[in-house]
Amino acid sequence: MSTLQTAVRRETGTLLEIEDLATHFATPGGVVRAVDGVTFSLDHGQRLGIVGESGCGKTILSRSIMGLLPRRNVIRKGSVLFEGTELTTMSLKDRQKIWGAEMAMIFQDPMTSLNPVMKIGKQLAEPLRIHLGSTRENAQEIVLKLLQDVGIPEPEKRLEQYAHELSGGMRQRIMIAMALACGPSVLFADEPTTALDVTVQAQILDLIEDQCREREMALVLVTHDLGVVAGHTDQIIVMYAGKIVEIAPTATLFSKMKMPYTEALFQSIPKLADPSHTRLTTIGGRPPNLVAPPDGCSFSPRCPYATDTCTKVEPELQQAEPGHLFACHYPVGSDRWNEVQVSLGRRSGGH
Ligand SMILES: Nc1ncnc2c1ncn2[C@@H]1O[C@H](COP(=O)(O)OP(=O)(O)O)[C@@H](O)[C@H]1O
Ligand SMILES: [Mg+2]
Repeated sequence: MSTLQTAVRRETGTLLEIEDLATHFATPGGVVRAVDGVTFSLDHGQRLGIVGESGCGKTILSRSIMGLLPRRNVIRKGSVLFEGTELTTMSLKDRQKIWGAEMAMIFQDPMTSLNPVMKIGKQLAEPLRIHLGSTRENAQEIVLKLLQDVGIPEPEKRLEQYAHELSGGMRQRIMIAMALACGPSVLFADEPTTALDVTVQAQILDLIEDQCREREMALVLVTHDLGVVAGHTDQIIVMYAGKIVEIAPTATLFSKMKMPYTEALFQSIPKLADPSHTRLTTIGGRPPNLVAPPDGCSFSPRCPYATDTCTKVEPELQQAEPGHLFACHYPVGSDRWNEVQVSLGRRSGGH
């Protein structure tokens, strides 16, 4: 059995347990509450989507979990258990052993992570030699197999090329190959397709999904686009202003969403069934300033259903059904929601 195959995980059960995680930045303008008390867990092989508009804390949340944060001016709180081991108090040296080997990350722009002056083959082989102690020949063999796995044509030729000689889609495939190299048990993909055109986007998402399934690897797919996570995740977290505002299994979220912010994100996805002249709804206003978020529900200034209660009392996460939590005083389907729907002309009365 090859080194790669032995690295494939077969465990089941909880992989990551995140408890009340907070990451704040001390800045001259005040404390930025980028991530503010996030709790959830991820099972082995599970695919999780983290969705929300730009600036709501998705990247900082995934970096906080991995322990990839700037060292200065950061205030951290909470716990990250990886297979039962606390990561937040772990030394940098021990964390480095986990990066790549256990938890890997791919980013929106591969050029920021690929070394422009190192040949692709060498970049891919390095982590194998460091983490798995592979010999040069063995590493080369694994690298070629990886390049094939991620659908790179003429893999031998690519070993001798540099990142700038490849297209955006190919570079993203190389990044995925690098992330997969040591057989991590979870892959964090932060807006992995945002910089790519639509056709290539779909191919890369399919590739990530296939690799997760084949390797029984968990996925954390971070994106501003609810449409992207729809077909590629088992569970979705909707984030707003550094907090989870709704979490549910993917099918439940789409069929029984509760939080008006989720509804608003959903309404901004183009639908195939819409007549071609349909105007896309955009969410009015902007996400809040995380130095001084509004009182009560932070979505209230932009929410069509908000009342005085919403601007004063912060809604706690509550359970709609097991596994489905939301934070809202007037969720989708409530009397208040129906009333406003009627007044907005989205629904007829008595319905
Ligand atoms: N190093 C930093 N110092 C201060 N504020 C930061 C820093 N990094 C991120 N932020 C702020 O934290 C918030 C969340 O950022 P981020 O996680 O990148 O959002 P997202 O990925 O959802 O677009 C933003 O308001 C951003 O400006
Ligand atoms: Mg981001």
